[in-house]
Amino acid sequence: MTGMVTILGIESSCDDTAAAVLRQPADGHTEILASIVHGQTDLHAPFGGVVPEIAARAHAEKVDLCVEQAIAAAGVALKDIDAIAVTAGPGLIGGVISGVMCAKGLSASLNIPLVGVNHLAGHALTPRLTDDVKFPYLMLLVSGGHCQFLIVHDAARFSRLGGTIDDAPGEAFDKTARLLGLPQPGGPAVQAEAEKGDPKRFRMPRPLLDRPGCDMSFSGLKTALLRQRDTVIAEKSGLTVQDRADLCAGFQAAVVDVLAEKTRRALTLYLAENPTEPLLAVAGGVAANTAIRTKLETVCADLDVTFTAPPLALCTDNAAMIGYAGLERFRSGDIDDMSLVARPRWPLDQSAPALLGSGKKGAKS
Ligand code: KG4
Ligand code: ZN
Repeated sequence: MTGMVTILGIESSCDDTAAAVLRQPADGHTEILASIVHGQTDLHAPFGGVVPEIAARAHAEKVDLCVEQAIAAAGVALKDIDAIAVTAGPGLIGGVISGVMCAKGLSASLNIPLVGVNHLAGHALTPRLTDDVKFPYLMLLVSGGHCQFLIVHDAARFSRLGGTIDDAPGEAFDKTARLLGLPQPGGPAVQAEAEKGDPKRFRMPRPLLDRPGCDMSFSGLKTALLRQRDTVIAEKSGLTVQDRADLCAGFQAAVVDVLAEKTRRALTLYLAENPTEPLLAVAGGVAANTAIRTKLETVCADLDVTFTAPPLALCTDNAAMIGYAGLERFRSGDIDDMSLVARPRWPLDQSAPALLGSGKKGAKS
């Protein structure tokens, strides 16, 4: 498709219901006309994690409203929309189905094309939406549910260099917060404590640094933290404010070290492909962590690689990234029809060995 395109994006794969409207001139910068996100944090807070049933029901209730609000905020009418992009996976299946059904209904009634988008492709392509970044670039996706290095060759081709074999870093931050009585989401709370603590007092492991490659592991860190916490409690019958800050600092320093070293390795593999404008982009909620960002900037500077991070609202789950990934596919004539299905598992790089959550049904992401 040539000419100006206005696209509606819909996202509902985890605990955010989101809709966005984007406009892209024939050649020029894509504009986000509206991006609406309805989070579900309050609904899940009493349970200490995302409850799939509750998430699915909340998406079903909110998705229409979200679309309506995005259309209104964008100042367009439904008849102005040229195509609909929707997250078709991977994610919690109940939520993904809500989004896909809503998108199919709109596509059928407006008689406009439908594009099923991989949620991870949405994250991975965001630097092109925000900074017009050129292919190929390296993406580190670090969130509450994902952690992987991807070489983004083009809008449809991704090579996964490695990722976590168990917990995602955000999950580890959240569990650490829970173990120390800090609020959820744990990342910002643990970071704030870590800034007041001594990272050297409690020695935490650096999992998988002794093995080659870019795979990571974070689940052992929370076990180490639990053991150190319990040792202090046994000695003093409780934790002081300083003990808690020191535990957070020790934990965060370990995450920073692991991500930095694995990023250095991933960059070395990426640079071997001789990219003309080498660039590392980060996305996901954990990319908000100042200590992690600062360290990644240093690693990039050492290797003469540009570092970029989209604004936080576009790093975390949103529908603008889904709209943009849909636009790239729509422009290349790659669209879906009513046979589009919601997929709980959908690895971006089908050729990479399975990592997180892989089982009988294959790799999740
Ligand atoms: O990308 P995101 O909003 O949602 C998904 O995981 O899908 O990421 C949320 C995660 C949570 O685990 C949260 O604790 C973590 O990002 N996070 C942080 C920080 N801010 C948010 N982790 C470390 N440091 C932060 N400052
Ligand atoms: Zn996400």
